[in-house]
Amino acid sequence: MFEIDKEKCIHCGQCIRDCSAKALEFNDEKIPVINEDKCFKCQHCLAVCPTGALSVCGKKPENSDKIYSQDPEMILNLIKSRRSYRHYKAQNLDTERMNKLKNMLNWVPTGCNFHKLHFAFIDDIEVMNQFRDHVNNKILNALTKKPVQAIIDKFNKNLKSFLNGDDVIFRGAPHMLVVSTPLNAPCHNVDPMIALSYFELYAQSMNIGTCWCGFAQFCMMVMPELSEYLQIPKGYKASYVMLFGEPDIKYARTVQPEPFEIVSVKKGEFKKIGLKDKILRYFWNLK
Ligand SMILES: Cc1cc2nc3c(=O)[nH]c(=O)nc-3n(C[C@H](O)[C@H](O)[C@H](O)COP(=O)(O)O)c2cc1C
Repeated sequence: MFEIDKEKCIHCGQCIRDCSAKALEFNDEKIPVINEDKCFKCQHCLAVCPTGALSVCGKKPENSDKIYSQDPEMILNLIKSRRSYRHYKAQNLDTERMNKLKNMLNWVPTGCNFHKLHFAFIDDIEVMNQFRDHVNNKILNALTKKPVQAIIDKFNKNLKSFLNGDDVIFRGAPHMLVVSTPLNAPCHNVDPMIALSYFELYAQSMNIGTCWCGFAQFCMMVMPELSEYLQIPKGYKASYVMLFGEPDIKYARTVQPEPFEIVSVKKGEFKKIGLKDKILRYFWNLK
């Protein structure tokens, strides 16, 4: 699991310093050794070693990518120019970009480095159309023939468009990604959202349109057959859905959003909180 090239090791101890699991220590020869039981496979030791002396979990330093410095203005422009796309070409994305999107996901961070996310891709428009038709027909049925209140509530604002045959849920997208997580993952509420956030920015950098899809997420909740269709493993929760594909619209400039409330906290006092407020805040935070 852990190999050191003694010729290359300069005994700098960077690997030991950066091991948050405290799994590494020097032996008598000042060579790092590992306690495998403590290691959680984050590979920081591999990444930090200045001379490439260290292999871990079968990963050799020569197979890692170089780190380039990025232009922050370009990254900011990427963030500002990201949009939710609701117009797509009815065609499959080319295989090269599709594979790049899938491959990138291996680098998203997860709490405690718990690498068990599941990504279900609909990467063929024929499959997407079958999925879309199944969901749209079922919703239409629930809105008209045998009205179901929860579905009426959810789609109320879009009722007219829906009944006109607009693809209100899937926005005509040729592809979809559903990210799922085991419920015992230490950060199961957060990991999937981080993954999709990375996904949409990387997609944007390749001129691929994306759209977070709360509507489809709702459908995943109320139609259990969708998780089966997508082969989401037992014990996993489908956490969120993202549509994507070749855009059929081009944005000429960024938007100018209303600012959020962003505050700088100053040094202050920690006040005593009464029991009632403590309980209220506890339940508020649990929501
Ligand atoms: C969590 C989340 C869920 C969303 N769900 C949908 C959706 O179901 N359908 C849709 O058309 N847009 C959806 N959106 C897109 C938002 O409506 C969109 O972000 C907003 O209109 C601002 O546009 P912009 O993303 O281009 O800045 C969702 C966005 C987020 C972050």
